[in-house]
Amino acid sequence: MEYLLLKGKQQINGTIKVNGAKNAAVAILPAALLTRETVEVDNLPKITDIDKIIQILKSLGAVVTCTGKRSISIDSSGVNSFCPPPSIVNKFRASYYFMGSLLGRFGQVEIPMPGGCNLGPRPIDQHVKGFTALGAEVELKHGIVKIKAKKLIGTHIYLDVVSVGATINIMLAAARAEGKTVIENAAREPEIVDVANFLNAMGAQVVGTGTDVIKIQGVQELGRAEHSVIPDRIEAGTFMIAAAATRGEALVADVIPKHLDSVIAKLREVGNEVEVGPDWVRVKGNSRLSPADVKTFPYPGFPTDLQAPMIVLLTQADGTSFVTENVFEERFNHLCELRKMGAKIKLGGRTAIIEGGHELSGAPVKALDLRGGAAFIIAGLISKGETRLEGVEHIDRGYEKIEERFKLLGVNIERRQQ
Ligand code: UD1
Repeated sequence: MEYLLLKGKQQINGTIKVNGAKNAAVAILPAALLTRETVEVDNLPKITDIDKIIQILKSLGAVVTCTGKRSISIDSSGVNSFCPPPSIVNKFRASYYFMGSLLGRFGQVEIPMPGGCNLGPRPIDQHVKGFTALGAEVELKHGIVKIKAKKLIGTHIYLDVVSVGATINIMLAAARAEGKTVIENAAREPEIVDVANFLNAMGAQVVGTGTDVIKIQGVQELGRAEHSVIPDRIEAGTFMIAAAATRGEALVADVIPKHLDSVIAKLREVGNEVEVGPDWVRVKGNSRLSPADVKTFPYPGFPTDLQAPMIVLLTQADGTSFVTENVFEERFNHLCELRKMGAKIKLGGRTAIIEGGHELSGAPVKALDLRGGAAFIIAGLISKGETRLEGVEHIDRGYEKIEERFKLLGVNIERRQQ
């Protein structure tokens, strides 16, 4: 078993280049199944979720070749199975993108319910609503979702919930459907725009991503494409919050600052200096931090994926802060462990009430999910004493060699084996 060991009272200081976006890459690779031609995808993060997607692609018959340090080519001409292996699918949430892509390619798919971080109930009813509206029959038997369509036909779909996964999955299934599909109340995340750019590079006709109405004119075939994944705004935000929480300074480079507007605004609101360049953001932490009211919302709201790191930052503010989770109502697994480190946090419904100004103390803690895990690193850095962080496998799903990344920012973290 691996764990991270870090000493407290360390300050972030340095420059870091952000990797490609996990949440875009995990949809783009399954989307490659929509064509029989070879596609090349660059700027992939080296994280375990991507390793698992590559394993699934290979198990379905695709030829995946490493073409560079961060790029692969995918030749799906030999893919002849629409049943991704349950043992891998079960392990992560984003495996649900094989529903849309295999349905689009073969008109059918058999796949177990996706696994992934436990953030409370994570239904897929809006995905199913979309597939059904496109003409598919969906049944769930013995934990396996079976989706089958004689023909996918474009239609109007109104999403009852703003869902990143459902928006992308419907785009994948509709790309080669007959006629036009309109998704209303679509999610607007930058990763959705990136997936659409990849689909369009293959010859799809998707317009309107980044707004809440997306139109997809189905085409018969998709072709070869090359694509470079956008920067990961959540990885960037994690380092920005870490700089602020440790009262350090970080130049976070190779980002699209517009994607970080809500994070930049909150960091400034609580008293940090944030300078914004064309493709970089510099955060300088202030010794005095004000409390804040933070509400997570779908993009362009404050990202739920940065809620846990933000709570850690607010434990250092002079006063009481309120953090309301509006996307995943039960996404507060991390509070228990943060309390072990001395954080004074109460939970009232979906709002965490954080009494700032108390020094945290290093402790043995366990990551229970991906982003909560990253938050414990920040908590360890500002604490007094040593923190031993277990559950690193959750962090490795979405952050590439996190200890190496933090070392680039001047802090000392070790990965050890037990
Ligand atoms: C994606 C991201 C995740 C991020 C989340 C919200 C990936 C792989 N993961 O997750 O990092 O935290 O967006 O930005 O991109 N919902 C339903 N029915 C559905 C689908 C969703 O009720 O069919 C609900 C969810 O329970 C949640 C909300 O809608 O309350 C938003 O979920 P969604 O945007 O779908 O999140 P994911 O795609 O799972």
